[in-house]
Amino acid sequence: MTANREQFGSRLGFILAAAGSAVGIGNLVGFPVAAAKNGGGAFLLIYALFVALICLPVMMAELSIGRNSQKDPLGAYNKLSEGSGAWSIAGWLALITPFMIAVFYMVITVWIFGYLFEVVRGNLDKLADPATFGTFINTNSVFLYFIAVAAVVNLILVSGVKDGIERAAKILMPALFIMLIGLVVFVLTLDNAFAGVKFYLIPDFSKIDAGVINGALSQAFFSLSLGMGILITYGSYMNRKEDVPGSAKFVALADTAVAFSAGLMILPAIFSFNPDVNTGELSESSVGLIFTFLPKIFLALQTTIGYFGASVFACLFFLLVFFAAITSLVSITEVPTSSLVGERNYSRAKSLTILGVSMGVLSVLCILSFGRVGFLTEFVSYAGQSKSLFDVIYDVFYDTILPLNGLLVCLFVTYRWKKANFHAELETGNPDYKGSLVERYVDFSLSTFIPVILAAIFINTVLTKYFGFSLIG
Ligand code: PHE
Repeated sequence: MTANREQFGSRLGFILAAAGSAVGIGNLVGFPVAAAKNGGGAFLLIYALFVALICLPVMMAELSIGRNSQKDPLGAYNKLSEGSGAWSIAGWLALITPFMIAVFYMVITVWIFGYLFEVVRGNLDKLADPATFGTFINTNSVFLYFIAVAAVVNLILVSGVKDGIERAAKILMPALFIMLIGLVVFVLTLDNAFAGVKFYLIPDFSKIDAGVINGALSQAFFSLSLGMGILITYGSYMNRKEDVPGSAKFVALADTAVAFSAGLMILPAIFSFNPDVNTGELSESSVGLIFTFLPKIFLALQTTIGYFGASVFACLFFLLVFFAAITSLVSITEVPTSSLVGERNYSRAKSLTILGVSMGVLSVLCILSFGRVGFLTEFVSYAGQSKSLFDVIYDVFYDTILPLNGLLVCLFVTYRWKKANFHAELETGNPDYKGSLVERYVDFSLSTFIPVILAAIFINTVLTKYFGFSLIG
């Protein structure tokens, strides 16, 4: 099975697939609101610095681990550590984390698909009622939407890396870019659009505190799909002739450009709906924004472009988010798939069936954890709050373990795999890397302040989330 590892067919194919993973719900909705609420241009500046100075070196590390080992994360940690038992824990974490994140991401994608379906059926007015979301998530249709989304992901993945993942990215990503640009251009023509742009971009450094800085870094880290084993896996499908540092830069740039543009779509739309909007009321959570706040704004567009026009706008928006979510879901499901194929020698079809059933059961349990089943709804309680199964998966895997996985990547490269091997891998395909400023920066940062910062975020998250005690902000 390992004899002929599949590869991406081209550099562009890799970049689109990795950007497809990175561009997700977080960029399209989470980022604009975080930026708008936390100092506008000041937040953007800090975010961009974090992407370039902290996330890019980690991204290069993950890609090189994958490409050098030609294995899934579990196999990669085992191979490059020469079978060290302790490091196989990092491998297992890089496998379980995406598995669990895929479960909760699946649930949100299913809702997006459901909303898309409802808008297409002409029900935008219904969705604009804030009470709809609470009822919608507990309707039986959610199970049908679940089957549809799982089928799409399965269909893409079963065809393999080149004919599945890469081909889907080559269709979905350009479509996503075009829709995004179209929506931005349209929104900028609305009355009061400029107030939204101003609010989004004018820097307010007084809003920047330790909490905002922590939030910006976490946002950048998640947004680039770091710490999820995805880039190790995608790196293992990269040709040795490819330039890893150059491709990583492209992916980071594309991801950041999409996040930035999403702000130019969402904020003008909000301000045109209500120029005196109290931005303090904007929900922190992407879920609240997508499913209750934005449908109201889309419906309000009917005064300018009619109900049909408003529905077309809403439809394009949900389609955009759906495409972004599907490519992320595909990338995250590929991690356990590649482990089953690589470590167990199963076929892709068999691996996907096993994952489909196991993830399916967990996703259904999550779907039932919004009030339908008491035990799942009040699953546990920590830091004085009762949490559903869905919340727990989100808190533990998305919020807590990701920075830990990032930290392990840095420590692994520095102390176990060794930096000389790492740099040699980055040089393969990019001869200019040797001796460059980038090399010196990556070398220094990955073994000094990046792991320190990731450790601080991890410890702070554990204390805040589970013990209600915050060190940073
Ligand atoms: N980058 C994604 C986002 O912004 C995060 C993600 C990637 C989530 C892959 C799940 C799977 O939403």
